[in-house]
Amino acid sequence: MFIFLNACRKIDENGPHGKLFVTSGLGGMSGAQPKAGNIAGVISVTAEINPKASYKRHEQGWVDEIISDLDKLCERVKNAKKSKEVVSIAYDGNIVDVWEKFNKENIYIDLGSDQTSLHNPWAGGYYPVGLTFDESNKLMTSDPNLFKIKVKESLIRHTNAIEKHTKKGTYFFDYGNAFLLEASRAGADIMKSDKVTFKYPSYVQDIMGPMCFDYGFGPFRWVCTSGKASDLKMTDDIACSVLKDLLKDAPVEIQQQMKDNIQWIKGAQENNLVVGSQARILYADSEGRIAIAKAFNKAIKKGEISAPIVLGRDHHDVSGTDSPYRETSNIYDGSSFTADMAIQNVIGDSFRGATWVSIHNGGGVGWGEVINGGFGLTIDGSPESEDKLSNMLFWDVNNGIARRNWARNKEAIFAIKREMKRNSKLEVTIPFSADDEMIDNLIN
Ligand SMILES: NC(=O)c1ccc[n+]([C@@H]2O[C@H](COP(=O)([O-])OP(=O)(O)OC[C@H]3O[C@@H](n4cnc5c(N)ncnc54)[C@H](O)[C@@H]3O)[C@@H](O)[C@H]2O)c1
Repeated sequence: MFIFLNACRKIDENGPHGKLFVTSGLGGMSGAQPKAGNIAGVISVTAEINPKASYKRHEQGWVDEIISDLDKLCERVKNAKKSKEVVSIAYDGNIVDVWEKFNKENIYIDLGSDQTSLHNPWAGGYYPVGLTFDESNKLMTSDPNLFKIKVKESLIRHTNAIEKHTKKGTYFFDYGNAFLLEASRAGADIMKSDKVTFKYPSYVQDIMGPMCFDYGFGPFRWVCTSGKASDLKMTDDIACSVLKDLLKDAPVEIQQQMKDNIQWIKGAQENNLVVGSQARILYADSEGRIAIAKAFNKAIKKGEISAPIVLGRDHHDVSGTDSPYRETSNIYDGSSFTADMAIQNVIGDSFRGATWVSIHNGGGVGWGEVINGGFGLTIDGSPESEDKLSNMLFWDVNNGIARRNWARNKEAIFAIKREMKRNSKLEVTIPFSADDEMIDNLIN
């Protein structure tokens, strides 16, 4: 939702209502897109090639409607646009067909993205246009080379169709699924004339990096080990009231992020987002994560929450992941290609109280392209839990802000200076920004 709201703001500061968002994938993570679209207030069309995935998401209430016919889809979208309806529609078919058909029918797309599993293009992550789901599944095992060719051809068609829309004004962004990377490897016309930069931004470069990660906002999460919905409800209420309190004194630079998160957590219960574990994800900075976790710990102690809580976060966060195509793609000092931050994170987290840590390769953007660090921290209401969560969450976020600050990201410089004011024991060097023109002159 965070990505949506901010992407919508990029195209129109009057807000998202009546805007059309086109994307693909109703799988594990991508299945959240239509729900996020509804919460953000847009019309969303999400293409999904696997009918089982679409119907499952529909049954679960994550998407409002399913349409299998392209003409009916166009008619439905045109009507929704006229009435500025907030609706999520699943298209039961290939995403390439949607981009091409909407171009032909002159349906203006405000926002576009893609969440097929392109980090795994040859083994079912991306289904090429022109083949049904079953035909693709057969071909990828009976003739993997031909399947590969079909995927590449489809990516070229996909890119060409997107470009027709972006020329009309559509804001297209990479959602962290390696779309730009794989399209470029397939030979699609997706690079700028410098042949190094993609034509479209990764959402981290344009949205998440400067608006969230550099300020320390990232996907903090928790699981109620009781498995009780009542405990989750209590944690939602606690998190909401902690954020509202913090908002009162928050600097103007991060007030919007906090307001968005308050909106999100308020809507979380009514949107019925839980599938499986009683767990929640909420964007917060170091101050917010620590304050929320401390309040949970107190509530466990008082018995208001009936059992321990496991704190964690997505690897897709401020400090947890080194990936030049995603999490560190807005680090432009050359260090985005190193893998030091995630390693330092798990080492620091392990000493500072994490119950477990993990370091792994490949998550999200593919093997060899990324290093991810993660943690779990169980809190049980004890004073030890309070010590651990304060120490560990502080490191887990500020380690990454320090690094982003060294890369001269101005939002991270602001955030780390603020953190040093709040905590006199923290000392982080601040970069000196040289005059680029002077350096160029010295080199030449
Ligand atoms: N931005 C983020 O925060 C973020 C988070 C998690 C995952 N991701 C990335 O997003 C991608 C999707 O993740 P997931 O967990 O949903 O994967 P998934 O494999 O469960 O879902 C992808 C879906 O796309 C469908 N699909 C594939 N090709 C298609 C096509 N041409 N047309 C229509 N539908 C098609 C598949 O049938 C599948 O259901 C992955 O690459 C993942 O790494 C991004």
